[in-house]
Amino acid sequence: MKYGFFDDDNAEYVITTPKTPLPWINYLGTNDFFSLISNTCGGYSFYKDAKLLRLTRYRYNGVPADVNGKYFYIKDGDCVWNPGWQPTKTELDLYECRHGIGYSKFKGVMKNIEANVLSFVPIDDTCEISRITLTNNSSENKSIKLFSYVEWCLWNADDDMKNFQRNFSTGEVEVVGSDIYHKTEYRERRNHFAVYSVNAKIDGFDTSRDAFLGAYHDNHDPEVVCEKGQCTDSIAHGWSPVAVHQINVDLAPGETKSYVFVLGYCENPVEDKWESKGVINKKPAKEMLAKYRTDADVDKAFAKLCDYWKGLLSIYSVKSKNDKVNRMVNIWNQYQCMVTFNMSRSASYYESGIGRGMGFRDSNQDLLGFVHLIPERARERIIDIASTQFEDGSAYHQYQPLTKKGNSDIGSGFNDDPLWLIAGTSAYVRETGDLSILKEMVPYDNDMSVATTLMEHLKRSFDYIVNHKGPHDLPLIGRADWNDCLNLNCFSEHPGESFQTFGPSEGPVAESVFIAGMFVKYGEEYAQLCDETGDTAEAERVRGEVAKMYDAVLKDGWDGDWFVRAYDAYGKKIGSKECEEGKIFIESNGFCSLAGIGVKEGLAEKALDSVKEHLDCKYGVMILQPAYTVYHLELGEISSYPPGYKENAGIFCHNNPWVSIAETVIGRGDRAFEIYKKTCPAYTEEISEIHKTEPYVYCQMVAGADAYLPGEGKNSWLTGTAAWTFTNISQYILGVYPTHKGLQIDPCVPHDFGDFEITRKFRGATYNISVKNPSNVEKGVKSMTVNGKSVDGCIVPIEDGVKEYNVEVTLG
Ligand code: GLC
Ligand code: GLC
Repeated sequence: MKYGFFDDDNAEYVITTPKTPLPWINYLGTNDFFSLISNTCGGYSFYKDAKLLRLTRYRYNGVPADVNGKYFYIKDGDCVWNPGWQPTKTELDLYECRHGIGYSKFKGVMKNIEANVLSFVPIDDTCEISRITLTNNSSENKSIKLFSYVEWCLWNADDDMKNFQRNFSTGEVEVVGSDIYHKTEYRERRNHFAVYSVNAKIDGFDTSRDAFLGAYHDNHDPEVVCEKGQCTDSIAHGWSPVAVHQINVDLAPGETKSYVFVLGYCENPVEDKWESKGVINKKPAKEMLAKYRTDADVDKAFAKLCDYWKGLLSIYSVKSKNDKVNRMVNIWNQYQCMVTFNMSRSASYYESGIGRGMGFRDSNQDLLGFVHLIPERARERIIDIASTQFEDGSAYHQYQPLTKKGNSDIGSGFNDDPLWLIAGTSAYVRETGDLSILKEMVPYDNDMSVATTLMEHLKRSFDYIVNHKGPHDLPLIGRADWNDCLNLNCFSEHPGESFQTFGPSEGPVAESVFIAGMFVKYGEEYAQLCDETGDTAEAERVRGEVAKMYDAVLKDGWDGDWFVRAYDAYGKKIGSKECEEGKIFIESNGFCSLAGIGVKEGLAEKALDSVKEHLDCKYGVMILQPAYTVYHLELGEISSYPPGYKENAGIFCHNNPWVSIAETVIGRGDRAFEIYKKTCPAYTEEISEIHKTEPYVYCQMVAGADAYLPGEGKNSWLTGTAAWTFTNISQYILGVYPTHKGLQIDPCVPHDFGDFEITRKFRGATYNISVKNPSNVEKGVKSMTVNGKSVDGCIVPIEDGVKEYNVEVTLG
């Protein structure tokens, strides 16, 4: 069952009922100012950091769901309604929400009044614009009242939910004309404030939540709107400050009026905070608001945002006969990659914005799907991430986006982390050819006095694994590898202990076959960087180490029909036919095979057949089977989840593409695509009532076959799935892969996929690629011509000065 449809021409998902199984959200903002916005106008805004600089308040896990946001109430006689349905939940004559790329639109119609709301964050400003347009479609004059509503957060979102003894006394506002200022804590150590304004004269306002809602009311029936019909012009002193504007609107038949609301974040220099005693200096706010006074201003800013995205999405686009692939590749998958790059795992409807900062491994992987969009920002990110590495090559698992410093609460010891830095850097250099990044001086643990080149950082990443091997010459796992929940040195017996920080960070025995796969894959990528910089001795050493690891995996990481997952602290196998539960895992099989381990020996094929036989289910490839039915002290968090959920036999969408990529490595396009389809939002849209999360983006986890409701998704938006599925479909299935020497075109598609065309902007040139598949093969380039000349192999050689490459590829 569907709750809407894709409008591909406008790059929008159109939601046709407010009653979606879960709130379906969108993200507004590209740089510093961000808003989350749901299909019923729920959500919140923040500047840079969702924990420390939160503008508006949200109640996670509230009842009913998703009840705080940026609302407009319309009072038409006795009827009170919202264009986005919540919070009054008045049944509308017509409702529609269009989530687009960086904006959302809402249409509500009630008693012949049509309200259209457009919300977006302009490209280069720290504000959100919401324009509401009201039209009288009746044949009579209408006098209605419009109320806006936002509830301020007292900046630190964590403290805001806890420290009521203080917070109920700190709130302060100022009101000047139609501008409502929120200035809590401005009197002391903050030099920033927020403003909510409208470009029209108002007929009243409220800034005290209690005055507006009334005691024992909530925002579904504000006393001011539903009973009094008139704002009280309240000034908040402590408690919960809000911003409410009232505008009385008269509309003749057929008449339309629009109002531009701006919610902005402003800063002042410390020495210039005040206009007069106790009165904030409003200069930055006035300058910002002056830019968005008219409809034309809004149209212009909106057009600029749309052009910006059009430009970004033109860097990689495909035309095939498969609409679902086209729409995911050309629009939604890339959009989600941008959002994960911006948010890491901080603020979604599942990440409360007060928890973790940027993940070392997460952010590196996010780069894989983002680097082609804005390489300069990727470059900056790589340096930031590498700056939190330790001198021995290990890394803080997370760092804070505001300070860019490593987070010592969680510390280090996740032994896959170092290798992801090679993955991110390699992707950047292959995309841009910018070898200069490797020479940048980058600190360790933010200490510039011990800085080395970025290349030296990569060497230390690589050597960290070389120097931390266990009894089978396989990498030691530390606290965990990619799977945060495989905690083999933890042995936690008491509730509440964090599986990620409890117990020793190192153990001399527990090993990870998954990290071995990564080492082979990213060791080779590091060796290629050495080739590019001319360090042949290092390249040779690295390839030697990689060869040793390859052999170690085949010797002790192979279980007969598939790759072992790990060895526990007692030296016992995990993910082996010898185990009672958890006999086979996805990660080692996917990653070792995609790294090429066992390909020539025929073992990768065998491993992938085993994955299909044991881990496949209707909704995706499960992380492991059989699920753990009891808690295993020696395995940690993985066995803490009920069977079928999360890391215990859930479908972790993030690693499905690894298996799909591995299938392309051995040339099985049909199977690679079958896996791609299972978790692909454009395909799961049809079962939205089961899947529940947004049908236009990936979620982190879908319940596996053992679960109560197999196929039910959770934790949408902020997941490495976005970057990895984009990498899979764009670089492996459609096969346009950036190498140091140029673009490689080597598709691996289902046999009946048909011909297709790709436009790819790469290193300053445009590649118009046409792929023909007359013999319906799954893989194999029979011939290639570039600008009319035939070329050996499948890499398009880069020629100086050439701005356009017309590439014709024939498979066969
Ligand atoms: C989450 C984490 C990621 C981890 C994965 C598996 O997605 O953000 O770092 O690799 O779970 O545990
Ligand atoms: C990842 C996992 C989750 C685990 C968390 C710990 O997000 O998905 O299960 O609890 O990491 O950081």
